Formats: sequence, C-alpha cells, structure tokens
Amino acid sequence: MKLPYIEPYKIKMTEPVSISTREEREEWIRKAGYNLFNLRSGQVTIDLLTDSGTGAMSDRQWSEMMLGDESYAGASSYFKLKEAITDITGFEYFLPTHQGRAAENVLFSVLIKEGDIIPGNSHFDTTKGHIEFRKATALDCTVDEAYDTNTLLPFKGNVDTGKLVKVIEEYGKERIPFILVTITNNTAGGQPVSLENMKAVRSVADNYGIPVIFDSARFAENACFIKMREQGYGEKAIRDIVREMFACADGMTMSSKKDAIVNMGGFIAMRSEELFRKASVFNIMFEGYITYGGMTGRDMNALAQGLYEGTEFEYLEARLRQVSLLGSLLREGGVPVQEPFGGHAIFIDALRFLPHIPREEFPAQTLAVEAYTVGGIRTVEVGALLADRDPVTRANRYPRLEMVRLAVPRRVYSDNHMNYVAATFINIWNERDRIKRGFRIVSEAPIMRHFTVSLERL
Ligand code: F0G
Repeated sequence: MKLPYIEPYKIKMTEPVSISTREEREEWIRKAGYNLFNLRSGQVTIDLLTDSGTGAMSDRQWSEMMLGDESYAGASSYFKLKEAITDITGFEYFLPTHQGRAAENVLFSVLIKEGDIIPGNSHFDTTKGHIEFRKATALDCTVDEAYDTNTLLPFKGNVDTGKLVKVIEEYGKERIPFILVTITNNTAGGQPVSLENMKAVRSVADNYGIPVIFDSARFAENACFIKMREQGYGEKAIRDIVREMFACADGMTMSSKKDAIVNMGGFIAMRSEELFRKASVFNIMFEGYITYGGMTGRDMNALAQGLYEGTEFEYLEARLRQVSLLGSLLREGGVPVQEPFGGHAIFIDALRFLPHIPREEFPAQTLAVEAYTVGGIRTVEVGALLADRDPVTRANRYPRLEMVRLAVPRRVYSDNHMNYVAATFINIWNERDRIKRGFRIVSEAPIMRHFTVSLERL
C-alpha cells in the first residue's frame, strides 16, 4: 500500500476550539453590527479571518525567544535578523518595523508625494490606504485573467506589462516613484506571480529608470508555486528561487506575520544605502531606533528562525496542500471557488454563489455572515465593502471580483477542521435560495471602512 501523505511536524501544545449554538451566534453577530471584525475570538469556532499573525510558532522559534537580546542599540538579535534577511533575500540593508503596514508607512514617507502614481498588480488595502493618504494613486495593472475565477492559469497574479507600459507612457516616469509587485497577489485571490513576469517588469522598469518594490508578505508561497508550476524551476531549491525573485527588485516591504510565521513583525529591505539612510529617519520617528524599529529582541530572533522555516520546501508543500484540500472539498460540493487555488486562502465567488443578491446589498458579506451563523466560521469579505468609496467622488467602488476569503492560518488547523469548513459552505450552497436579501450600511469610516462598518439586514 502507498503510504499516505503526512505533515512534516507534530503538535506539542493545543488550544481549545470554541463551540457555540446557532442561536448564540445569531445574537452575537447582530450585536456586532454584522461585522465579523467585531466578534470576540471566543465567539468563533474556526477562525479563517486572516492568515496574518495567526500561525503557530515552532519549538525552535519559541526557544529563540528566550535568547532575545533586548538592548536598545546594537542588539545581537538585530544582527541575527539582518544576517537572515540578507541570506534569504540578498538585500544588504534592512529596517525592522512592527508590521507590514508600518514598513509601507516608513518607505512611502520617503518615496511618495502628492500626485504620484504607483502602478503594479493589485495593491493590498493598507498599501492602497497609505498611497491614497498621501494623495497619490494606486493603479492596478493585474492581468485580465485574474478576474475570471474559472480560468485555469498558473500565474494569475501577474502584472500585465502592456498595461504597465501604457500607464508609464500616459503619466510619465516622473510621476512614478516605483512599481509595486505584490507576491503573492492577495487581492486577486492569493495568486502567484511568475519569475518570467518579475523579470519582464524589471525590464520595463529598467527601460524607464523606475525602481521596483516587492510587497513580499507571501514571497515563500509564491516561490513554492514557481517551483511547482514554472518551467525550468522544478528542480531548484526554494531559497535559490527566492534569491532569483528578489534579484528583480530594488527593495521590499514585508509583513512577517505571514510567510515568516511570527505573530507580529515586519521589515523593509533594500539594496540602496541612500534609501536606507532616508528611510532610517522615518523609521526612528514612527517605529523605533534602527536596530529594533518596533520589534522586541525576542521577536527579531523568532522572525530570523521563521524566515528559514518558512522557506523550507517540506513545510511549504504541507501548507499549500492543506489550502488546496479545502478548495477541492468545496469544489466537489459544487461551491464556486476561484481556481487555481490560492496559496494562503480559498476565495469563494459570491457573484456566482448568490447571483440574485444585488451588489448594492454586498453579496460576499451576506455569505460571510451566513457562514458564521451556520458554522461559527469567521471569514472576510473581499468585495465592495473592502473596496471602499472613490476618494474623489465618494461613490461606492464595485470591484470586478466579489469574494469571501477563507484564509488558513499556518500550522494551526487540522485537515478535519477543513472538512468541517467545507461541509458548512456546502450546506449553505445547497440551500442558497433561502437567502433572499443582503445588507445596508448603517455607519462607516472615511477610509478602510470594512474594519469598522456597521450593517443592517434588509
Ligand atoms: N501587504 C499584503 C499583501 C498583505 O496581505 C498585508 C496584510 C499587508 C501588506 C499589511 O501587513 O498586516 O502586517 O500590516 N494582510 C493581512 C490579510 C492583514 O489579512 O491579508 P500587516
């Protein structure tokens, strides 16, 4: 008999899962203004809100925490992290920050001014927020295929270099401080970017003399997809692929809470000493002195260890396999999911799931609330609520995709938990005609409204 697949780790510590009744959940979600961010974690059974900072650290990471050096300046933990970052990414300079958006804040303070244009593939919402806050514009040049959840292409996160060139020609390179490539492309469904595409973007950037920055939260999952899908990379080691990827960029921002498997942390890394010096000033103002910048010594140690663990093929294979298992179970049950499956999450196409709910009534949020009520599963809407209003006209923006994201935390849930999640959604799918109406906004913040929005059932 062929031996079954096993995860390359075992579990040393457990945490209880909260079980509740449907009646309790109906009351909790009503009190939460039908906003899943307002729920207490104890009110959630399976938490797929995000894969960010929710992973389980290893025994080696925990033991590294004990070795943390909490010196204000020149801590050994800083140098341990610096060596790990240079070893893995090839970038010589780095600044620690408390998380990814802090890295964006520091770097964008140097690079972006009012009226600038930042083209790339899809910008994450905090990234877009930091760009728009500076009265600049984020332009999404992702390939069109990303918007068809049925097209099976290996690299749907790619930048359309034709669109990119058009943007540069239209606005002029003077208004474009950098091109931003997000790996993997979270907003377009956790879809990877190919090395071929990274090289093509680099070549366009070189033609015009524009720097390239990678938003690298899920760079290791992206590298694993390259190994599994891109011609010529099947035999290459993940870390060699990672080096080749970052060789296409001038710098990176990182939310370490994803692929570096820590609960908090981030950094900026770059090749240019001049950029490092300029960014250091903002890092000291916003984050902390340059050798800790928003992180404790112990957290820097755990991050250094996490960067190595997160770039091991055996770990990445287990990770992508579990996400893909969830996708396959949903697909077999008829649920319309984005394909190919993303790296960190499965995205359910709410426009195909609830085609009778008008977009003004937020079909993806409607489905997310239903999944919570039926199974205690917390997911997140990636649709019109997240897309916010146009900063100028204040009209609601309706993105081409309206999805529910099921983000899987790293090394946390078992395959059986995935079975439970899939069964919940399949039951809803089989009775979807029962859901007649969606929601209306009662109150919202002027920017990044989805975190705090309050809704009412129609
Ligand atoms: N860039 C990407 C691609 C992200 O997915 C995130 C966060 C950030 C930047 C910001 O990093 O949270 O450390 O400040 N994404 C999380 C998510 C929140 O749920 O997708 P952060």
